[in-house]
Amino acid sequence: MVPPKPVPKKAPGSRELWRRYRALFPKYFWSEETRHASILIAGAQGSTLVDVDGKEYIDLTSQWSTNNLGNVHPEILEATTEALGRYGFLIYWMNPHLPMLELAEHLIRVRPSSNLTRVFLELSGTGAAEGAVKYAVEAQERPVMLGFMGQYHGLSIGTGIVGSLTSEARRHWEAYAGGAVHAPYPAISRRPDGMSPEEYGGWVLDFVRDELLHHVVAPDRIAGAIFEPVALEAGTWIPPKGFLRGLRRLCDEHGWVLIDDEVEAGVGRTGKMWAVEHFGVAPDLVAIGKALSGGLMPISAVLGTERLMVDHNVAAGTTFGGHPAACVAASKTFEVIERDRLVERSARLGARARKRIGEWERFDHVVDTRGLGLCLAVELGKPGRPRAPDPVRTRRVFFDCVRHGVVPLYSYGDHVLRIQPPLTISEEELDRALDTMEGALRRAAR
Ligand SMILES: Cc1ncc(COP(=O)(O)O)c(C=O)c1O
Repeated sequence: MVPPKPVPKKAPGSRELWRRYRALFPKYFWSEETRHASILIAGAQGSTLVDVDGKEYIDLTSQWSTNNLGNVHPEILEATTEALGRYGFLIYWMNPHLPMLELAEHLIRVRPSSNLTRVFLELSGTGAAEGAVKYAVEAQERPVMLGFMGQYHGLSIGTGIVGSLTSEARRHWEAYAGGAVHAPYPAISRRPDGMSPEEYGGWVLDFVRDELLHHVVAPDRIAGAIFEPVALEAGTWIPPKGFLRGLRRLCDEHGWVLIDDEVEAGVGRTGKMWAVEHFGVAPDLVAIGKALSGGLMPISAVLGTERLMVDHNVAAGTTFGGHPAACVAASKTFEVIERDRLVERSARLGARARKRIGEWERFDHVVDTRGLGLCLAVELGKPGRPRAPDPVRTRRVFFDCVRHGVVPLYSYGDHVLRIQPPLTISEEELDRALDTMEGALRRAAR
């Protein structure tokens, strides 16, 4: 076993390090509007981050659900190191290797539905989402994708076209977006007053049928729909139970492919191995990334059907896709998840935390709490005007948490604080982190 590296306790002169940091990186990485945390990391282990001043933080982000097994899981590190020494790097379509075969077999064993029989490997979540769209558009020989407003699939031009997180994220590229049409995402928390969750899901499907298909694009020009079973970057939006089944029916009616983007929600995050399993639907393509390799190596995958991946030849892939050591890390990840029953743990700890954060709705400025497994969110609004987001107070709560040694996930959904700790976090650490968040919310009420 490779022993974990000790985390440096003190790297002096953080002020000077920040100065050097700001001098080198693009503004997006440090400006007040976009900088999400003000800690410069010197080391990470388990659920702990350590900054350059030696201060420790509980990581409630899992690095955007990438380190689902915690930071630097020793068994994944050992397997990866050994594989690097054995294989180095190989181009996967020219020199196929044992680790990619073993990973593909693992993925098929844990797939969300039995229609998925083929595995395409990529490097990033963006590459997986874009690869899935490529399979859909090329195999279907239809040019348009249906997306849902608020979804995030990456920042490349292709994924930016099918995604629509914010209009700012699409600025300058709006005119490229002719390859996609968008319907509202049926987030339960955003349904109009007086509508039940299922009625809202039905309303969105009617909107697609009666408005988009009638006024904007004919159904036989659409290759497929891309859907996030939980839209995490939007602010952990959860759709009504029946919506995905309705979307599946719509896809079948028009010969569309259904793409399930599990890049952030997959690999146990929501208390099931795949988020789509909450909704009882078989997708045609599934994009997987982030936590796939236990957080140590970049790798992603697309699962697909025989029709899409064998009957059609789609040129997709990238040099470093399916890196042998990343494949080994990913296979080991599934072994650890199964052995340590981490999916069940995510469901159990998530249900406990969900109950706890639900109590925070007693604060006037907490307008909604929600979650599935260890994928939880707290939404802040202006007291008395629950539909008016409160990004200023949210930011205050976020930085208060950071000052007190807890890092919640705080990003584009800028009035939402998200809780996505490693599935391995101890109950004591999680309780302590939630105590800290509760304290920050209480202080923000004043
Ligand atoms: C649902 C979803 N799809 C795709 C991506 C893009 O993945 P990556 O940043 O690894 O390219 C993300 C990233 O957050 C995501 O959340």
